[in-house]
Amino acid sequence: MKKSFLVTALFAVSHFSLSAQISRATPQKMADLIDHEFKFATAQYKVLAKNVSPGKTPQSFAAGKPINMGIKWWCSGFYSGTLWYIYEQSKDTQTKAEAEKALQLIEPNQTYTGNHDLGFMMFCSFGNAYRITQKPAYKAVVERSAASLVTRYRPIIKSIQSWEKSKYWQCPVIIDNMMNLEMLNWVSDHGGNPAYKEIAINHANTTMKNHFRPDYSSYHVVDYDPLTGKILKKATWQGAADSSAWSRGQAWGLYAYTMMYRFTKDPAYLKEAEGIAGFILNNKNLPEDKIPYWDFNAPGIPNAKRDASAAAVMASCLLELARYSDGDQKLRYKSAAETMLISLSSPVYHAKAGQNGGFILMHSTGALPLHSEIDVPLIYADYYYLEALARYKQWYL
Ligand code: GLY
Repeated sequence: MKKSFLVTALFAVSHFSLSAQISRATPQKMADLIDHEFKFATAQYKVLAKNVSPGKTPQSFAAGKPINMGIKWWCSGFYSGTLWYIYEQSKDTQTKAEAEKALQLIEPNQTYTGNHDLGFMMFCSFGNAYRITQKPAYKAVVERSAASLVTRYRPIIKSIQSWEKSKYWQCPVIIDNMMNLEMLNWVSDHGGNPAYKEIAINHANTTMKNHFRPDYSSYHVVDYDPLTGKILKKATWQGAADSSAWSRGQAWGLYAYTMMYRFTKDPAYLKEAEGIAGFILNNKNLPEDKIPYWDFNAPGIPNAKRDASAAAVMASCLLELARYSDGDQKLRYKSAAETMLISLSSPVYHAKAGQNGGFILMHSTGALPLHSEIDVPLIYADYYYLEALARYKQWYL
């Protein structure tokens, strides 16, 4: 028997037994799970901390080696953000000291204007730090970061430009960019420049109009003519095809329109989030354990790689969407999130203590078509997983 066939077969068997184990979550089961996970994370992130190279932030672990990245990488804020989530639950002072150290490292990013990722980088980190400590210096960094981000707003397109012009694109806007709007909304709602929220709303409306298909799936990239604002093309970068539904992109859209509804109470955003949730949860290619393949149209399903990070993002925002819903729909969103969290906490996706380079979750996929980060731990999978668990505890227990 070929090795790849054997690995696939074993993975399929473990998934089969996992789906048999998934039972209805009870409040006690979820409370125990959350308590266990934050204790586990407190110890596991001490293992991770030992793998961080000076001046870098942890990203992944592959072939037995830690992968660390520089501070301009879009994920540089997730390490401190994850540590703040852990500290919030554990009150462990060593975790807090590491979180502060990680913040200090990325502080210079507040004036960075080279891409659209400032929200990921600075709100997941300094935003959480301020929420938990109320230190004015952290809020000032968030405000400065928002000012940097809006320099990328292109009024003719009514969108924030994601990446720089290149041989591939003129003025690309990617679905992921929606996530950066949380920082803009938050700053405007906390005494900052009200124009930031208007920019966030314009961007969200443009994305709703141009990135989404009638079935509420989304394109990854829309490229615009920067002079006229006309659409040049709709394409992918990390997905299986231009016309496919890249799973993490669907997760970003779901998270971000739920978040836009939180800040605006505009029913159009709620409708959009419900539509995206319907696309995901009704999809024939969503596996029984509700951990998506890396793309809903990935070649080779059911043997395609999974993306645990997409599930973690989805679980977190489905818990929020459930708060804005009633009856059966509320139950459906909450119970889908529970299934995702129970699956992620099972041995199929969850590392053993001290293993996985110190990361919590395994089996995420960063950018498969770029041959990058395939079936590995990723820092943001841990971040959104712990965020989802903390939200569950806050809202449902
Ligand atoms: N660019 C963010 C992501 O890979 O999801």
